[in-house]
Amino acid sequence: MKVSVKRSSAFQEFEVPRHPSQTVLDVVTYIQRALDPTLAYRFACRVGMCGSCAMTVNGVARWTCRTHVDRVVKDDRMEIAALRNLPVIRDLVTDMREFFDKWSKAKGRFEGALTKNDDFQKVKPGSPGRIAVDAAIECIGCAVCYSSCDVVAARPDYLGPAALNRAWTLVKDERDTASVERLRAVAGDAGCHSCHTHMSCTEHCPKQISPTAGIAGLKRELSLAVFKNVL
Ligand code: SF4
Ligand code: SF4
Ligand code: FES
Repeated sequence: MKVSVKRSSAFQEFEVPRHPSQTVLDVVTYIQRALDPTLAYRFACRVGMCGSCAMTVNGVARWTCRTHVDRVVKDDRMEIAALRNLPVIRDLVTDMREFFDKWSKAKGRFEGALTKNDDFQKVKPGSPGRIAVDAAIECIGCAVCYSSCDVVAARPDYLGPAALNRAWTLVKDERDTASVERLRAVAGDAGCHSCHTHMSCTEHCPKQISPTAGIAGLKRELSLAVFKNVL
């Protein structure tokens, strides 16, 4: 199989042997170990949990450790590049700072009322707030959605689907005490109202999360907060 890899300057072509159940991450690892040790890429868990191995494969953002070559190879060729919408540090490695800075801007950190001396505060599995975010809390921070979003590409200050999905999970968390500040944080020009509901984030999320639905939920919560005059 011919594999074109986007290096820092240009594409470089490698010949990689195929084998059963081979993943895209296996291909990149083979290139780095057997053909060119200078190739830079990032991974950690290899089992779809850490979110660090995402790359653009044949033009589509994917988690590479769980993407089988058989599913994406075309005419025995594959093209691999770094994620879109993020600065590239080297080869396939992106700088994730702005991605996680936006989680922070969206107030994506839990704010509780208890101290370490209190008992754990439990959320009932069947409670409406818990059910509303059942899928959304499984986000692994891979940035596939962020890389697939055309609004992020057009306006780099847009908080993006992952940060807004995170804000949505916390707004629905009955233990959290910062919902009003969080709704203010996502209400601005760069927040949820900039989403054009293109659904690319939802289409490509490897965890089958729908940030589009979470963003729609934030818009509803904002309208409600304005109606109740709490913002
Ligand atoms: S639905 Fe919104 S956040 Fe998701 S890709 Fe489209 S514009 Fe971006
Ligand atoms: S919402 Fe999905 S695509 Fe986006 S960072 Fe989380 S797991 Fe990755
Ligand atoms: S290496 Fe952890 S998700 Fe792919």
